[in-house]
Amino acid sequence: MSKGRCDTVLVTGASSGIGRACAVHLADSGFRVVAASRQPADALARDLRAEVSPGSEIQAVVLDVNDEASVGAAVTDILRKTGRLDAIVHCAGFGVGGAIEDTSDAEVRAIFDTNFFGALRVCRAALPAMRERGAGTLVLVSSIGGRMGLPFQGLYSASKFALEGAAESLSLEVRASGVRVVLIEPGDFRTGFTDRRSRASGADDQSAYRQAFERALAVIQSDERGGSTPEPIARLVRRVLGSRRPRLRYTIGPLPQRAAVQLKKVLPGRVFERILALYYRLDARGRGGATRAQGG
Ligand SMILES: NC(=O)c1ccc[n+]([C@@H]2O[C@H](COP(=O)([O-])OP(=O)(O)OC[C@H]3O[C@@H](n4cnc5c(N)ncnc54)[C@H](OP(=O)(O)O)[C@@H]3O)[C@@H](O)[C@H]2O)c1
Repeated sequence: MSKGRCDTVLVTGASSGIGRACAVHLADSGFRVVAASRQPADALARDLRAEVSPGSEIQAVVLDVNDEASVGAAVTDILRKTGRLDAIVHCAGFGVGGAIEDTSDAEVRAIFDTNFFGALRVCRAALPAMRERGAGTLVLVSSIGGRMGLPFQGLYSASKFALEGAAESLSLEVRASGVRVVLIEPGDFRTGFTDRRSRASGADDQSAYRQAFERALAVIQSDERGGSTPEPIARLVRRVLGSRRPRLRYTIGPLPQRAAVQLKKVLPGRVFERILALYYRLDARGRGGATRAQGG
């Protein structure tokens, strides 16, 4: 019997990218996987079953992390059908591009609603059953952008910083009950994330940041599209779920991006900022990249 056999894992964001890779790999590895997304469950289950090895246990459920009732209903359904919930692999999330100054309150709330409050809703729904059993693992997909403020992804970074802070606290709060909290911090991977990134409403031709934003966005998109497919993250999550003492954080991605996380710890703040500014070509025209738009 392989490790993980009969362990029930709820994977959010399982219709695409990292969540989908995790759902498939965990099912192939002997976990009983419940794959969640906002897509119709029958269609998602059919798609995923075509990808996993014969005999793997995978089912699908509709779950919108923005909707507490939807999260609660999905978790209740899993507990009713399987009697246990051993782990959550929380991948649901999206990005927003644009300068902070160009982003409206409504847009900030939308990204926090999914990336931060969505994670909290899923954790709160799963925790009572996990605490009662005295075991469980909450794997939360954060980002390297949760370790450093990335230019023109500021509110995305902020939502992941918030997630990182809450996860640190939660980990302390639940450790006595046997529940483990783990943050996965990917660098750039090739998924649906790039095409789904929304754009701040003020990031238009009139934006003072237009040129710097377009230059930085070109770097960001090229790194993402040139990145690895997400299977290495799925293998890492599998190892985390098989570990008796998982770490709090795992950074995964291209070496320069992982190195940046370490460099930020040791370099003076302005030196690190200068490196990011050079990398994202912020200073190519105008100080700090904010130039007055000429219109058109
Ligand atoms: N790709 C990268 O380079 C990268 C790097 C660092 C961190 N991440 C993080 O990794 C996670 C997964 O992203 P990805 O790269 O796999 O992107 P993706 O391919 O776009 O997948 C995003 C998933 O999130 C789901 N989702 C979005 N909003 C949702 C909601 N309100 N309720 C339920 N599900 C929702 C989508 O499902 P629907 O079918 O319901 O839309 C989809 O399955 C995100 O948290 C992202 O921030 C990605």
